[in-house]
Amino acid sequence: MADGAHPWTPSSWRHRRALQQPDYNEPHAARAVLEQIQLAGPLVSPEECLALRQACAEAAVGEAFIVQAGDCAESLQSEPGPAANRMRVLIDQLLEVVGGKTVAIARIAGQFAKPRSHPNETRDEATLPAYRGDAVNGLDFDAASRAHDPARLLAAYRHSAATAKYLRQGRPRLFTSHEALILPYEEALAISDAEGRWWAGSGHMLWIGDRTRQVGGAHVAFASGIENVVGVKCGPSIDADELIRLAQALDPQRKLGKLVLIGRFGASRIERCLPVLLRAARQEGFAAGWMIDPMHGNTRHESGRKQRRLSDMSAEIELFFGICDSEGVSPAGIHIEVSAEPVVECIGADGRDPMAAFPCDPRLNKAQARTLVALAASLQNVPAEA
Ligand code: PEP
Ligand code: CO
Repeated sequence: MADGAHPWTPSSWRHRRALQQPDYNEPHAARAVLEQIQLAGPLVSPEECLALRQACAEAAVGEAFIVQAGDCAESLQSEPGPAANRMRVLIDQLLEVVGGKTVAIARIAGQFAKPRSHPNETRDEATLPAYRGDAVNGLDFDAASRAHDPARLLAAYRHSAATAKYLRQGRPRLFTSHEALILPYEEALAISDAEGRWWAGSGHMLWIGDRTRQVGGAHVAFASGIENVVGVKCGPSIDADELIRLAQALDPQRKLGKLVLIGRFGASRIERCLPVLLRAARQEGFAAGWMIDPMHGNTRHESGRKQRRLSDMSAEIELFFGICDSEGVSPAGIHIEVSAEPVVECIGADGRDPMAAFPCDPRLNKAQARTLVALAASLQNVPAEA
């Protein structure tokens, strides 16, 4: 973080503890890859990022509704053109169920890394490093695939660049976002504008995950110096004091649209967690927008498998809008994990676990996602577009 003696730079995070980073056997190869990425340059412009901040400022005061949606993690196996096209169509179909003005943000063109609760995975007798997303290692359960490989970071960058290009051609103002997890990657793509302000060049909006949002940690240190919209995932373990220190670190100037807090508590915990946070943020004068991620707090672990029930997600959405209403806060939008493929991974109205295989987390399909977005929008009341 910037202080009087040390102005912020894209590498300031290196003085802080960085959790969830790749661990490469060949640091030289990793440095060479990062140089190539830096040379190839940013995927988004400061102007576009500023446009998103302005759109998020409207959402923070209830004049627009953010729909942030996409895969849990992107895959290097998919073709960037068709994948970009499918996501563009899907997001437009989600926006159709919202009445008023919308802000469209996809989890795409950079969402290749996953934080993990456990560093290893054990199957039968074998223990290997956990899968951390295609930017880091492979999903196949063998030692070669699970080794952290810097070449994957370059592949993820190129895939993201191609995806961003297709999105731009197909639909202006579909903003890109991903979790700012691999800090050397974010550092390599940071850019400064004519006024000397720094922007992340890897995507329009970055968010900090629930596992890496430590106030003194490296992820917060990186995000504190960029002008982009920054999201913070807020799970049940955050308390009001921590939230205020985080908001102070990330948005000291209290710019409307700069900070988006994304609640992901779970239906059974949101009533205990959220009201105190809303009050604290308001009392301290933070202008942050609040969104709801009904996915990550509602993941149950049943005999070694992850399950997500639509009924839990709907319940958390209803509670979120109810709490915002009683606290006088305008909800800014919804954040969901959804596949553009016709997957059946979450448990729907029939209560049956589809027992599907999925690489990270169970995702919604289009119909399920439309149901949740429609529910959220019906509780939100954004003024109709003029
Ligand atoms: C995610 O959005 O993919 C994620 C890992 O979320 P969280 O940090 O909220 O668990
Ligand atoms: Co996820």
